[in-house]
Amino acid sequence: MSASDWTELVAAARRAREHAHAAFSHFKVGAALETADGTIVTGCNVENATYGLTICAERVAMFKALSEGHRAFTRIAIVADTADPTPPCGACRQILWEFGGDLEIALANLREEKGRYRLKDLLPLPFDARLL
Ligand code: THU
Repeated sequence: MSASDWTELVAAARRAREHAHAAFSHFKVGAALETADGTIVTGCNVENATYGLTICAERVAMFKALSEGHRAFTRIAIVADTADPTPPCGACRQILWEFGGDLEIALANLREEKGRYRLKDLLPLPFDARLL
């Protein structure tokens, strides 16, 4: 996949969204994270009866990738079925920053891409291991 082509990454996030467990919010999200070697690792949100133990699509993708041995990341696509783009929540920004650094982010819905961002712009003045 070429560095400028987001088509495949967004398509992977759309497919991952179909696996979402969103029985409570009915808000399905898919994410596709690209590793430095070009591997795509996907995630979807997983809700459960406690509500509070819900995990977002972005963190599922990152934790899956880390658990499979990936350590360097370049981009993430995030998809929801909304007219306005769905940006990563604060918890996901923190985790993406800690393990992915200044990722490129594409937000998309089921039809089109809605915006591109850099994680450092979504999480200014981050707390991370450099400060420990
Ligand atoms: N959610 C995500 O998976 N990613 C986001 O970027 C925003 C929110 C999920 C969590 C919950 O299952 C549902 O969307 C509603 O908040």
